[in-house]
Amino acid sequence: MTDEVQAAEVEGDFDFEFLEFDLSDEIATITVSRPDKLNALDNDTLVELAGAFEGAFDHDDVKVIVLTGAGSKSFVAGADIQMLSEQGTLDGRSNGQIGQDVMALIAEGPKPVIAAVNGYALGGGLELALACDFRYASSNAIFGLPEVSLGIIPGYGGTQRLPRLIGRGRALEMILTGEKINAEEALRVGLVNRVVEPEQLIEVTRKTASVIASRGPLAVMFAKEAVSRGTNVPLSDGLAIEADLFGLVSSTKDMKEGMRAFLDKRAPDFEGE
Ligand code: COA
Repeated sequence: MTDEVQAAEVEGDFDFEFLEFDLSDEIATITVSRPDKLNALDNDTLVELAGAFEGAFDHDDVKVIVLTGAGSKSFVAGADIQMLSEQGTLDGRSNGQIGQDVMALIAEGPKPVIAAVNGYALGGGLELALACDFRYASSNAIFGLPEVSLGIIPGYGGTQRLPRLIGRGRALEMILTGEKINAEEALRVGLVNRVVEPEQLIEVTRKTASVIASRGPLAVMFAKEAVSRGTNVPLSDGLAIEADLFGLVSSTKDMKEGMRAFLDKRAPDFEGE
């Protein structure tokens, strides 16, 4: 992991220049906010994202994280092209590594992350949405990996996560043409789970987040871990991971509480223990 991302993780505070951080009803909302650049990601913003996610993962009151972009036009319009235009071989490699580290932190983190895609999700913006556990979109959202039209390739995981999500053929069509698709097409190919009107996006996303927040937090954590670790290994290895985590979750107080509540015909009171 790059030093920049590691330092941000250690700090994990909530004082940001390029992000907004809100915590209410056990849901942390992280909003990328560089409105004059359509929320494009430079390294400072990426390092802040690492700190925000690490802070949210560590915070006992946060059960679910919603990630969105400031304004009504853009989720994130990509990596910062000004920054990319100045890079050479070595800083190109480290810039890519910083982005990949942040995406991995989100994808592999212990709490669920939902992307609320409220407009352009291009290049690094789509890669950021892909690092989240699933995506809801506003009807005006636009998705694409336009890197080849800039003479580069996706560098924050897009060549790997997009084919795994929507299949090799559809992903390669987007990656090789650089063409954008709208929200309806994104829904059709399984890139997003739901499309709603822009003014409903946060409310609908928060509704799903609060359903997840009401479930056993350790069960939610182990379920995400089983899917994350199991996705990229042979089925037999994935099933072994699931069996181990099934055993682990069976040792929790939450498991006893969930079962007892069902038998008592009452709502469970999970404590995350
Ligand atoms: N990096 C840096 N700045 C960006 C940016 C990016 N990825 N995307 C948008 N911006 C900036 C623009 O340069 C412009 O800044 P300026 O006002 O200082 O000139 C501002 O954001 C507004 O963008 P603009 O292009 O004027 O808006 P638009 O509505 O005409 O077009 C887009 C919107 C998203 C189609 C267009 O901005 C675009 O194609 N952006 C680049 C997308 C991309 O290729 N991303 C992948 C990068 S690897």
